[in-house]
Amino acid sequence: MTIPYTQPPVIAVDGPSGTGKGTLSLKLAARLGWHFLDSGVLYRLVGMLADRQAVALDDAPSLARLAAQLPLEFRPGREAPEIYLAGECVTSEVRLESTGALASWVAACPEVRGALLQRQRELRRAPGLVADGRDMGTVVFPDAQLKIFLTASPEIRAERRYKQLKGKGFDVNLARLLEDIRERDERDSKRAIAPLQPALDAEILDTNLLGIAEVEDRVMRLAYSRGLV
Ligand code: C5P
Repeated sequence: MTIPYTQPPVIAVDGPSGTGKGTLSLKLAARLGWHFLDSGVLYRLVGMLADRQAVALDDAPSLARLAAQLPLEFRPGREAPEIYLAGECVTSEVRLESTGALASWVAACPEVRGALLQRQRELRRAPGLVADGRDMGTVVFPDAQLKIFLTASPEIRAERRYKQLKGKGFDVNLARLLEDIRERDERDSKRAIAPLQPALDAEILDTNLLGIAEVEDRVMRLAYSRGLV
């Protein structure tokens, strides 16, 4: 007999950047018809606003205020949702590597994480949620019905990011990207709060060898076997 879940299902997809988390999560959400949370966008927006408003990256109360009041809106886009901040389309700026670096600084601030927690949990709605981030399975949705943690070597991840950004017309340098990825990994995994690490009950998938379609298949099989779909 299967025990019915009391909360809408969540598939938590965690791991460092460049592992294909975002692509996988979007595909899963589209295939299942579930909601999608790109939690990195929230940290990226706080970092971007802090930079625009010259808020110091160690000014916790001001950063928390920015996080609590994010005037954020997602609108349907061609490949992924477009990101709007108080009516301004900021999708390209949000995706810059420099914004990712700012995000990882503000993400180490407990007050910022606290301010964003409820907002993320509110997105857990029927028929289900695919949540992409670093702490989806450990902190935000510790009771997620399925937790996936993607890994890949920094070199492969830098190459993927390089192709992705080049494809979008950005001027990028592979060696610089690798250095940025290493720095960001170091900050994300060593921070005191919600460090980047797999939940104890996460399924760890190494994407060095697996293509995105293979990863998607494995996750779908896991979702079936747990009665989520
Ligand atoms: O996933 P993305 O590259 O957009 O995340 C940007 C940064 O935001 C990460 O390097 C990380 O520091 C932070 N982040 C986080 N927790 C999440 C999602 C992102 O700390 N759930």
